[in-house]
Amino acid sequence: MEQYVIKGGNPLNGEVEIGGAKNAALAILAAAIMTDETVTVGNVPNVRDIKVLLQAIEEIGAKVERVDAHTVRINGSFIQNVSVDNEFIRRIRASYYLLGALLGKYKKAEVALPGGCDIGSRPIDLHIKGFRALGASVDIAHGLVVAEAKNLVGTHIYLDKVSVGATINIMMAAAMATGKTVIENAAKEPHVVDVANFLNSMGANIRGAGTDVIRIVGVERLHKTEYSVIPDQIEAGTFMFAAAVAGGDVLVKNVIPKHLEATTAKLLEVGCRVREFDDAVRVISDGRLLHTQVTTLPYPGFPTDMQPQMAVLLGIADGTSTVTESIFENRFKYVDELTRMGASIKVESNIAIICGVDRYTGARVNAPDLRAGAALVIAGLAAEGVTIVDDIYYIERGYEAFEEKLKAIGAQIEKAADEKDLQKFILKVS
Ligand code: EPZ
Repeated sequence: MEQYVIKGGNPLNGEVEIGGAKNAALAILAAAIMTDETVTVGNVPNVRDIKVLLQAIEEIGAKVERVDAHTVRINGSFIQNVSVDNEFIRRIRASYYLLGALLGKYKKAEVALPGGCDIGSRPIDLHIKGFRALGASVDIAHGLVVAEAKNLVGTHIYLDKVSVGATINIMMAAAMATGKTVIENAAKEPHVVDVANFLNSMGANIRGAGTDVIRIVGVERLHKTEYSVIPDQIEAGTFMFAAAVAGGDVLVKNVIPKHLEATTAKLLEVGCRVREFDDAVRVISDGRLLHTQVTTLPYPGFPTDMQPQMAVLLGIADGTSTVTESIFENRFKYVDELTRMGASIKVESNIAIICGVDRYTGARVNAPDLRAGAALVIAGLAAEGVTIVDDIYYIERGYEAFEEKLKAIGAQIEKAADEKDLQKFILKVS
């Protein structure tokens, strides 16, 4: 099992290039099979979850071609079976997008019940409610979600809770239904808009994505397209927070600053300087941070995927802060790990009460999930001494070349394959 080993204390300076949005790319690649023509998708991040999804798409018969590290060509005309199940697909949450895509195109889909990061119970009742409203029968049997319809028919769907996954999945199925579908209380995240734009570039008729009412007029078939995925707002936010916590001056390039407004607002509140450019943001921090309160909310609120990074920042801020997690009930699993690094955090229900300490101290910690893993690396950048982050498998699900990008802006970080590598790094830095 590989680890990250980090020697803290170096400020970060320089430029970092942000890749395509993982959570948009996952949905877009699944939706790409909805036409029999060839679709080319660019700015696809080269991360583990994407590889797993592409393998599943290939296994059902679609042709998948890696044009280069970040461009994928998919042809869905060769699909022979609508049943998606393998050991790996069961572990990723985004496998559920194949349900919407296959159901929309073939009116039948069988997909392993999704897994994903363990951040709380992750039901798919809203996805199922949407498919049923469109006229499909949906059952869960033998670990598979089985959805089938003679014909999907457009309808009115109200989502009881704002859900990114359910909004996108229903949008995909409805894109090839008969008649008009209206999704109310839809998610407004940038990747919902990106998937709608992608489907529209294939000939779908989707209006209102980015607002809480999305209107879809079904079309009979979709056609080829070339599309580029939007930049990853969470990867960008993670590097912005890394600069804030470690101190320094970092230009985060290839971003859409509008998508980062909640993240930027919090950095300003804690005393960092942030400058926005057309497609970049610059974060300047002297490492002295102020306390604040934050609550995670659906977009345009503060993203739950930035919650652990925020807590790491507030852990060494001046005074007492609170972080309220309102989306997932079990997203504080990193707190015990951060405590091992000297943090003073008490969790009560869905609120973390954080008393800022002067500094973190390096320790051996486990990445409990993707974003929390990245947050622990950030803590390591600011810690005194050496931090070892185990289980970096999680981090690699969603961050491409994480350690290389950090190294390029001055971090002392290595990926170690074994204890020998670890000791080598520790000797080098001590
Ligand atoms: C997506 O998960 C992302 N995953 C998550 O990113 C992200 O944290 C989340 O959206 C919120 O932004 C992917 O895109 C693959 P939701 P998703 O449906 O779609 C409840 C990361 O680190 N809910 O918006 O699963 C649910 O329990 C990951 O990249 C239902 O009750 O999230 C939660 O409380 C982690 N029933 C809330 O809605 C449902 O049928 C929002 O979940 C669906 C969701």
